[in-house]
Amino acid sequence: MFRCLPTKIAAALVIAAGTAALSAAIAGAFVSPTEPTKKGYVVAVADGSGAAPAAAPTGPEPIAALLASADAAAGQKAAKACLACHDMNKGGPNKVGPNLWGVVGAARGGSRKAGFAYSDAMKTTGGNWDFDTLNSFLYSPKAAVPGTKMTFAGIKDTKTRAEVIAYLRTLADSPVALPK
Ligand code: HEC
Repeated sequence: MFRCLPTKIAAALVIAAGTAALSAAIAGAFVSPTEPTKKGYVVAVADGSGAAPAAAPTGPEPIAALLASADAAAGQKAAKACLACHDMNKGGPNKVGPNLWGVVGAARGGSRKAGFAYSDAMKTTGGNWDFDTLNSFLYSPKAAVPGTKMTFAGIKDTKTRAEVIAYLRTLADSPVALPK
C-alpha cells in the first residue's frame, strides 16, 4: 500500500522546489538591491534581445575634478532653488530644511542643527558631508538617503552640481580644502 508513496514524495518535492524557485524569482524581481528605484516592474525575462532596460538608474558622475574650477557664483544662482527650504546665512534659522551655513565637511547623522527635526533616515546616516556624499545627495536625495524628507528632485547636471557644491563650500569661516 505504500507503493505509490515514493512517487508522491518525488512529485511533492518537485512542486515544492518549483514553487520556491518561483517565489524567489518574484521576490528577486521586487527586492532588487541594485535597482532600488525600479519597483513594481514585472519580471524582466531574458528574451534574447540582449538589450539592457533603457531606464536603468545611473549614479552621479564624480565632481572632484570639476571643483577646483567650478564657478561658485554660478552655483549661488543655481542654489536659489534651495532657498525655498534652506536659509544659508551664518546664524540663520532652520526652515523646511536645516540652515546650511558650514555644511561642507560637517557630520551627517541629523545632529548638525539643533532644533531641526531630521528624518529617521537622515539620523541613521554616518560620515561627513564631504564632496562625495554631497555629490550623491544632491544628485538624488531620495536615492542617496532613502526616506529623507528633503523632497527635492536633485540636480542632474554635473557641472551645475559641482557649482552648487563649490558655492556651499564658501559658506564657512574657513572653507574646507578642495580635493586634490
Ligand atoms: C522642498 C524643500 C527642500 C529643498 C528645495 C531643498 N532641500 Fe535640502 N533639505 C530639506 C529637508 C527637509 C532636509 C532634512 C532632510 C532629512 O532630515 O531627511 C534637507 C537637508 C539637506 C542637507 C543635509 C543637512 C544636514 O544638516 O545634514 C543638505 C546638505 C541639503 N539639504 C542641501 C540642499 C541643497 C544644496 C538644495 C538646493 C540644491 C536643497 N537642499 C534643496 C528640504 C529641502
